[in-house]
Amino acid sequence: MNKKLFLVLLLVIFLVGQVTWGQSKPIYLNPKVATEKRVADLLARMTLREKLGQITQIESHRLMRDFWNKGPVDPAWLNKVIVRYGVGSILSGGDGAPAPNNIREWVKFTNQIQRATLKTRLKIPVLYGVDAVHGHNNVIGATIYPYNLGLAATFNEELTRKYASLTADEVAATGINWTFAPVLDVAVDPRWGRTHETLGEDPYLVSVLGAAQIAGFQRSKKVAACAKHFIGYSAPESGLDRHPAYISERDLYEIHLPPYYAAIRANVATVMINSGAVNDVPVHASKKLLTELLRGRMGFKGLLVSDWEDVQKLVTYHQYAKNLDQALILAYNAGMDLNMVPMDVSVIDRLETLVRKKKIPITRIDEAVKRILRIKFQLGLFERRIVDPKLAEKIIGSQESKKLARTLAQQSIVLLRNQDNILPLSKQTKSILVTGPSADSLSRLCGGWTIHWQGAEEAELKGQTVLEAIQNKIDSDSTITYFDQVHNTKKLVQLAKEADQVVVVVGEKPYAEQEGDNPQLRLSPMEEKLLTTLQDNNISFVLVVVAGRPLILPKGEEAADAIVWAFLPGTEGGSAIADVLFGDYNPSGRLPITFPSKVVKFPVAYYYRENQTTPLYEFGYGLSYTTFKYSNLKVPIKAKAGNPVEISVTVKNNGELMGEEVVLLYLQHNTKNITPLRKTLQGFKRVSLEPGEEKTVSFRITADQRKIFNVNKLQWVEEPGEITVKIGDLSRKMLIE
Ligand code: GLC
Repeated sequence: MNKKLFLVLLLVIFLVGQVTWGQSKPIYLNPKVATEKRVADLLARMTLREKLGQITQIESHRLMRDFWNKGPVDPAWLNKVIVRYGVGSILSGGDGAPAPNNIREWVKFTNQIQRATLKTRLKIPVLYGVDAVHGHNNVIGATIYPYNLGLAATFNEELTRKYASLTADEVAATGINWTFAPVLDVAVDPRWGRTHETLGEDPYLVSVLGAAQIAGFQRSKKVAACAKHFIGYSAPESGLDRHPAYISERDLYEIHLPPYYAAIRANVATVMINSGAVNDVPVHASKKLLTELLRGRMGFKGLLVSDWEDVQKLVTYHQYAKNLDQALILAYNAGMDLNMVPMDVSVIDRLETLVRKKKIPITRIDEAVKRILRIKFQLGLFERRIVDPKLAEKIIGSQESKKLARTLAQQSIVLLRNQDNILPLSKQTKSILVTGPSADSLSRLCGGWTIHWQGAEEAELKGQTVLEAIQNKIDSDSTITYFDQVHNTKKLVQLAKEADQVVVVVGEKPYAEQEGDNPQLRLSPMEEKLLTTLQDNNISFVLVVVAGRPLILPKGEEAADAIVWAFLPGTEGGSAIADVLFGDYNPSGRLPITFPSKVVKFPVAYYYRENQTTPLYEFGYGLSYTTFKYSNLKVPIKAKAGNPVEISVTVKNNGELMGEEVVLLYLQHNTKNITPLRKTLQGFKRVSLEPGEEKTVSFRITADQRKIFNVNKLQWVEEPGEITVKIGDLSRKMLIE
């Protein structure tokens, strides 16, 4: 047989093999087949029990011998949950780490779970979620980035996207494929215990940075993002976590929904439901919000997951359902797809009974199952469910992540006061006294959901505290005194008087959720006493505040000669704070949230039409070590409705130091017949300027950005009329016809 004929024969055998294997291999296991065909093929093969397993999410600790023992996986529980009950999703909540908590153990843990799925009939991989909300923060060794409120103070869309992208790479490398982030709740009440998790009070800023995080998290297509918590979670009437919220139609559409519209435009894969109640209906039971609004009006097509135990809480907390059966019926029929149970697989038995009794239509179950299967196919989980620990060890805690975290921490720091330019300090300062409970703590720089739900042990974190960073900054012949016996006020005053410079670092202990509620917006009594002791003795000092929210300080803006607000800057935050204190970084952060002068009836956000009090510091405020001058604001005198407009302004650095300015563009509608919000942010750009340098910054404002919400029509409309454009201390009017 000549060679040519032999090759032809080989090719024929190969092609025939391909076709037959292709035919024998189920369609859904063929990655070359379109996702929707794979979903349809797999759904058609599934039993009811297999479907119900897919729409159930169980906490990782349920796979261990005695649940919270943090010990090794229990093969019996692993088999029961993953193989016998076919649970399709696992989460590690605030304390869901394997023990010991290290990168290799995380990879071993997730690989064990995914290997167990290969023992199931259809071999459907697990969708595994964690709260990677400021880095891969559950894993010891991961870089902890600034929390969202600080990230928002950077007004840096590009680095926000990059942070999310690097974090997603770390999450995927540990075999996890879903992060419950970004938080898109708009911070309308700083008393709320989760303000630090938000991207601030402005709907436009939250929308832009939230969409940037979604793009970053989902860039590699290995991790699904999760916009949370839909909707109105950040607006409890009392300011206390999960308390009832009463939200007008206008506030719903003008304040709370825009970030979710942006998330949907950014193709966010999943949305998590708000645990609370809005206008007396628990959101988990609200078909109006979860189906009619989120699906019908807003067009969300992804997966809708409950929050922790929130189906049960319809009975136990909201007393809205008389028992768990009714709660399951309410939640699934309202539109929830995946139930974060998270403790008890027997809910699947209960669900089977309800579906067989047609209390929950099988069409509703199938719709939910399709959404979770679709994500699993899109993430490539059927083809790539086991991960390599070596990659995880290489990228988690990388120099790249540390460098980015430090840059973001630097840019997140807001200089609120700098009396007589006391800052930056000289590195040759002879003697510095450092005091305050946040001066020598990494855990306080990171806040909650760091290694543990309520924050990390000091030994679990790597990085420089503020004290260590100052020690490494100043000259060797300078002396640093660290005094932590702050109740010994006599000694404190004596040391303060002896030192050339005093740096006080206060703030909040780590917290998560309701543990973070702070109805009075105050520091601890000990920290207030520390400040008032120094104030009463006329001690000049620099105050650094490490807090996840605005706080009301003794003597307010005159609390200290210089006030540096660092929010929760993460494991590189100590270094970044020292960079700012000693001028190695010129502060450029701007407030993403209004600082109230006292506790009043909230909200006090800058855009509200009538604010009862003058804020201590308004949204967008922040000082630099240099000064910037705005000129030449160009705004078209007239523009046609529907058309974008080009706006530009010149910014000049009038000082002696290089600096970065955040240029903020606001629109103020002077329309009469609809009561729009006051000025609203509609553009922001960071610009870097050498001393004396000037640049022109341009914005394109679309017609959508000029629309206001007509509450009668429930529509965003562009009204002809006059709009004032405001940038810096300049403003110009334009007429929309
Ligand atoms: C929590 C939080 C939610 C988090 C979830 C899983 O209760 O409300 O933000 O994603 O549980 O940890």
